[in-house]
Amino acid sequence: MNHLQTKCYKVDPETPEASVIAEAAALIRKGEVVAFPTETVYGLGADAFNEEAVCKIFIAKGRQPDNPLIVHISNMNQVSALIKSVPDEARLLMDRFWPGPLTMVMESLPSVASAARAGGNTVGVRMPRHPVALALIDEAGPLAAPSANLSGRPSPTTPEHVKNDLDGRISAILDAGPTGMGIESTVLDMTQKPFRILRPGGISMEELEEVLPGMVETAEAKGPADRYPHYQTRARVILLSEPADVASALHEYKKQGKKVGLVAHSDEEYRHIEKESDLVYWLPPSAEEAGKRLYAVLRDADERGLDILFFEPYPEEGKGSALMYRLKKSSQRLEE
Ligand code: TXA
Ligand code: MG
Repeated sequence: MNHLQTKCYKVDPETPEASVIAEAAALIRKGEVVAFPTETVYGLGADAFNEEAVCKIFIAKGRQPDNPLIVHISNMNQVSALIKSVPDEARLLMDRFWPGPLTMVMESLPSVASAARAGGNTVGVRMPRHPVALALIDEAGPLAAPSANLSGRPSPTTPEHVKNDLDGRISAILDAGPTGMGIESTVLDMTQKPFRILRPGGISMEELEEVLPGMVETAEAKGPADRYPHYQTRARVILLSEPADVASALHEYKKQGKKVGLVAHSDEEYRHIEKESDLVYWLPPSAEEAGKRLYAVLRDADERGLDILFFEPYPEEGKGSALMYRLKKSSQRLEE
C-alpha cells in the first residue's frame, strides 16, 4: 500500500508559516492524513469527525481497529464538541497540565468518529504543547492522531522516522525537526474512580497526585493497547539487572557471531566492556533526558544491524517509570 505521493513541508517549529499550515489544513479538510509534530512524538492526524479519514490512519499504520486514538485539540471550546460532561477533576488536570502530555479518557459524544473510539463510547483527549500542532488544529479542527509509526515500531521523534515508516502511505509530513520530550503522553482513564493510568508518560504519577491526592491508581491497568506488541526492534532488547551480567553474556553472543550493542548511563560500571561491544550508546543519567533519545537509539540500532541490545535500566520512579514501561514492552518479543 505505497501509492501516495507523500509531500514533505518544512515548517518553523516556533512560528509556523501560515501558508504551510493552510495547505496541511486543506488536506485534512479533504479527508487526508497528515503527520505533524507534537512536544512528545510525531502524530498522524485526520479530522476527528470524519469516519473515512480516521479509517485511513488505521490502514496507513497497520493498526488494529480495536485500539482507539487520541483526539488532539487546540483550545478549551473544542472540549464540548467531544465530551458529554467533563468531570471536575478533569478540569483541574486540564488547568494544570494542558497544553501538555496528558491524555484524559472520558465519555464521548457520538459525533466523534466511531473508528477513533474503536467503536466504544469513550474518547481520549489532549491539548499538545507544540506551536505547529496547535496552529494546524486551529485551522483544521480536532485531530484524531496516534503516533506516526508503523504499528508495533518505536514512535517517531524525527520527520525521518516518519518517512522511514510511512512514505507513500500518507498525504503529507510537516517537518519541524526533532520533537522535544521523546516519550508519549500519559493516558489517564477518568471514566471510573479511582482514576487509572492506562499508559505512563510525560506527566508522572507524582505530578498527578499533587493535583488529585489519593485519586489516581499507581499501577498501570490494562488498556486496549496492551493486547499488542509495542516498540519492537529487529535487535533483541535485553534489560540488564546487574553490570556483572553483561560481560559473560556479551562474550557468549559474540561467540555466536551476533552483533551486540550496549545502552548505558553509568560510566564506571560499563566502561570496561565498551571495547568488546560493537556499538555503545551513552545516555544521560537523568531518565527524563534519556527519554528524549530512546526511540532514536532503538531505530538506529536496527539500521546498524545489531542483533542484541543490552540496556542498563533506570530507577522506576518519576519520569523513569515511563521510560522503563517502554523498555519492558520493547524487550518482550513478538513471538513470546
Ligand atoms: O504523546 C502522545 O500520546 C502521542 C502524540 C501524537 O499525541 N500519541 C500517541 O498515540 O502516543 P497512540 O495512539 O500511539 O497511543 C494512544 C494510547 C494507546 O495506548 C490507546 O490504547 C490509548 O492511548 N487510548 C486512546 N483512546 C483511548 C480510549 N478511549 N480508551 C482507552 N485507551 C485509549
Ligand atoms: Mg503509538
